Amino acid sequence: MELVTGELNMHSVVIEQPGELVIQQRALPHPAADEVRVKVKFAGICGSDVHIYHGHNPFARYPRVIGHEFFGVIDAVGSEVSDRRLGERVSIDPVVSCGHCYPCSVGRPNVCTSLQVIGVHRDGGFSDYACAPARNAYPIPDDISDRHAAMVEPFTIAANITAHLQPCEQDVALIYGAGPMGLTVIQTLKGVYNVRQVMVVDRIAERLAMAQENGADWVFDNTQASLAEALAKRGIRPTLIVDAACHPGILPEAIQLASPAARIGIMGFSSDPCTLSQQAITSKELSIFSSRLNSARFPQVIDWMRNRKIDPEKLITHQFAYTQVVDAMNVFEKDQQQCCKVLLQF
Ligand code: NAI
Ligand code: MN
Ligand code: ZN
Repeated sequence: MELVTGELNMHSVVIEQPGELVIQQRALPHPAADEVRVKVKFAGICGSDVHIYHGHNPFARYPRVIGHEFFGVIDAVGSEVSDRRLGERVSIDPVVSCGHCYPCSVGRPNVCTSLQVIGVHRDGGFSDYACAPARNAYPIPDDISDRHAAMVEPFTIAANITAHLQPCEQDVALIYGAGPMGLTVIQTLKGVYNVRQVMVVDRIAERLAMAQENGADWVFDNTQASLAEALAKRGIRPTLIVDAACHPGILPEAIQLASPAARIGIMGFSSDPCTLSQQAITSKELSIFSSRLNSARFPQVIDWMRNRKIDPEKLITHQFAYTQVVDAMNVFEKDQQQCCKVLLQF
């Protein structure tokens, strides 16, 4: 059967307004001149999808088709895009940038002054079909499965923050948080950068077990015990720290624990203040980097996947049909013990 634009012939997961999620029949979207349309196969649920659902994302506008981690097959192209791309298996980079502002001109499209994130500022991948700029659709080699191709985007977050931090083998790394983001960072530090010692701190035992399965050399539960004391007792001063838990109290602690000349990476969006002193930072000449989304790091991550330097399967704990999206979002949100990455199949 031929699909006709204008008829209500696809299903999308729509957040109508904060708190109201519906599966809606929508008209098939038309790719703009420089866009491709993708028949979505798999899409991953991320914390930010839940935030948009609950109205906790300051950038989101409603109604919104959520989803920014997705894979599919190109089924239509705009007038400026080559027909040869039809049928291509692609993962979509959600970062849509202008290409000419200051950050774009210095290779930082992820903080473009007119940044649009697919699934946040514009409609996303929790849909039978989605449109995206052709240059955001990265070809996936045949030896990467459909499921794993949906995991490229979360690993680009780790690729981006580690590009700032420049890990080396002799680093003693400390990662706060063993959620999906912490686990992608662990895998990247171990599998790509061969960092010898990776320590992970979290408050959930099951997540710390996952951290070990993903390559952590040492894990620590800081629910009751003090990380500072445990490290001091062992004479350990981390040389590279990543905050993938993003509580505002963590940066001051990281600054205190860090070795002189250490690098610290943060990726949180909390607007709560925290207290830092110049002395604590400058006396050790610490470097503090922030990292947002990714700056054109899809090819790098696709290469890592193809060369088996990272293993997305280790993060995927659940898969649901998109019709079960409410259950899927619930499991993702409520069961942090058992649940890491949840994929929706379209
Ligand atoms: P998550 O909520 O699944 O994982 C966070 C983990 O940190 C949890 O396991 C929690 O138990 C642990 N945690 C919380 N406070 C802690 C503390 N004080 N000490 C030790 N562990 C603690 O979240 P996910 O998906 O892994 O993302 C992590 C953070 O990264 C989120 O805040 C998210 O907003 C942020 N993020 C930032 C991105 C960026 O581009 N800058 C992209 C994606 C996520
Ligand atoms: Mn995400
Ligand atoms: Zn720009």
